[in-house]
This record gives sequence, structure tokens and C-alpha cells, in this order.
Amino acid sequence: MSRPPKMHEHLPFSLNLALQNIADENKPDIQSIFAKPFVKWVGGKRSVLPQLLERMPKKYLSYNEPFVGGGALFFAVQPLKAYISDINFPLILAYQAVRDDVDRLIVNLKVHERLHNKTYFQTARERLSKEKDPIKIAALFIYLNKTCFNGLYRVNRAGFFNVPMGDYKDPALFDEDILRKDSELLKGVTIKQHEFFQLPIVKENFYYLDPPYHKTYDGYNGNGFDDNEHKKLASFCKEIDESKAFFMLSNSDTSFVRSLYSTFHIETIEASRSVSCKAHQRGKESEVIVRNYK
Ligand SMILES: C[S@@+](CC[C@H](N)C(=O)[O-])C[C@H]1O[C@@H](n2cnc3c(N)ncnc32)[C@H](O)[C@@H]1O
Repeated sequence: MSRPPKMHEHLPFSLNLALQNIADENKPDIQSIFAKPFVKWVGGKRSVLPQLLERMPKKYLSYNEPFVGGGALFFAVQPLKAYISDINFPLILAYQAVRDDVDRLIVNLKVHERLHNKTYFQTARERLSKEKDPIKIAALFIYLNKTCFNGLYRVNRAGFFNVPMGDYKDPALFDEDILRKDSELLKGVTIKQHEFFQLPIVKENFYYLDPPYHKTYDGYNGNGFDDNEHKKLASFCKEIDESKAFFMLSNSDTSFVRSLYSTFHIETIEASRSVSCKAHQRGKESEVIVRNYK
């Protein structure tokens, strides 16, 4: 007779310990012991991790994140069993490269680090959409992420990465120890490039959903994320609920978002935003956390 699947206990370690795992790209050398995000990501959840961690379900089977981006919550939780996905193709290749061939990825990153200058950056932008080798695409992607303006990812209609170079003196591309820890953590993880609604829904699994926010920055892919996408996402969450699985969703606090999730548990938190390049548009903003459990 087969055994029932093992449930995750609520947080595998204390909140404090989890918080030490949060990446801080400004202090890579004193925090090189834990697996942490290896890309900077717009809308990354680092600033609200305590609020998210304390709202995770007490027990669940497997961790699922279909808008994984930089994976702030994923790396803080360090789940033993997980499925992460995103629509962003080179981002997903980067996760797969860290998992499957971290040595060759590091060799490629070292070359970019050595050759980095304005001309090299421009050539790398062009190479990103032409390169065929997945490890080389992953390395180009991480290089561009760490050297472009604010770590933005934006492509034009033709799919060409068009973010200008950032104004950094000696930008750090990677931390070898962290990448190796990330590689170990990712070994047991399913990593796929697809739309959020292609993620299988399984009873008693946990789903963390962090889509491009309603009425804010939605230029992560060529198509944006409009009201119809938000409606589709709300239906997906309803399906998760009907399948007796758990979901937690982050979004901006707008009346449209509240109306989409009115039958679920909605809480408001304060989060810092840094998408805008205009200083007066940065700062604290309300966002909601929606859950189908308490
Ligand atoms: C707010 S970011 C997620 C940030 C992430 N939680 C973190 O901590 O870095 C939203 C992500 O959704 C992805 N995305 C946009 N449209 C999508 C879609 N239709 N299906 C799946 N992922 C999508 C973007 O590529 C982006 O990585």
C-alpha cells in the first residue's frame, strides 16, 4: 500500500532565519551562505516578505509559484518540493541553467564580467534574442539584468531587449557561493516557461500568485497584463479554491481587484515601490494580500 504524500509543515524554520535568506544585492559578500535570488526583479517581494511568510498555510503538499520573477518568497521558504514558472523565456532558462549546469554558467558569467563596457552591453542586448545555446542565453540574461537600468526586463514588439545600460560602477553580476546554493535548492524543483493558467492545480498544494499589478507596471512581456488577464487570474484562483488547494495572491489595492476577489479573505499592507524612475513616484503604496484560507 502506498504512503500518503508528505505535507510541508508551516515554515521549515523560524521567521527570523527565513528573513536572513532574503537577498540583498548591496551586501553580497556577507550573505553568501544561503540560497537567494540571483536576479534583481521589478516588483520583487523582498520588502514584504515578513507579511507573506506569516500568512503561509500551516501545512501544504507542494509549493507552486506561476509568476516567479526573482523568486523572493520561493528563496525565503526554500521548499523541498516545488513547481515554479513564468512567461519570461530567458528568465526560466536562467533558473534551469543554475539548476542543471551551474559550472558552465559561472564560466560564461566570468567572461561577461571581464568584458563589460558600454559597447559590450549593446552587443549583448542583440545577442540575447539570437543566441541558441540555453546556457549562453542564461548568462547573457543575468549579465544584462545586473548591468541594465534598475534590472528592468522590457522587450519591444519584435522581442528585442531594449533596456538601456544602468549607471553602475563595477556592477556585481553574481556571487559564486550563492549560485551554487541556489543550484542545490533548485535540484528538486520543476521549472517551466508558460502562462500562469498552465500550471496544474493539485489538491492541498500551495499557490503563491504575484502577477504584474493592476494599473501599475505591466511591461514584463511584450503583451502586458490587462483587465482581462486579471479576470482570468481570478477564475484560476477560484479553480484553486474549488480544488481544495491554498492560494495567496498579491496585487495593488484597487476597487477592480477587490471586486474580483470579494468572496475571499482580503487584507491591506504597505509596500515600497521602486518601479518608477521619477523619485516622486517611488515610496509606500497599499497593496492587498488575498487568501482562500486564514
Ligand atoms: C510582479 S513580478 C513577480 C515578482 C516575484 N514575486 C519576485 O519576488 O521577484 C510578475 C511576473 O509575472 C510574469 N508574467 C507576466 N505575465 C505573465 C503570464 N501571463 N503568465 C505567467 N507569468 C507572467 C512576469 O514575467 C514577472 O516575472
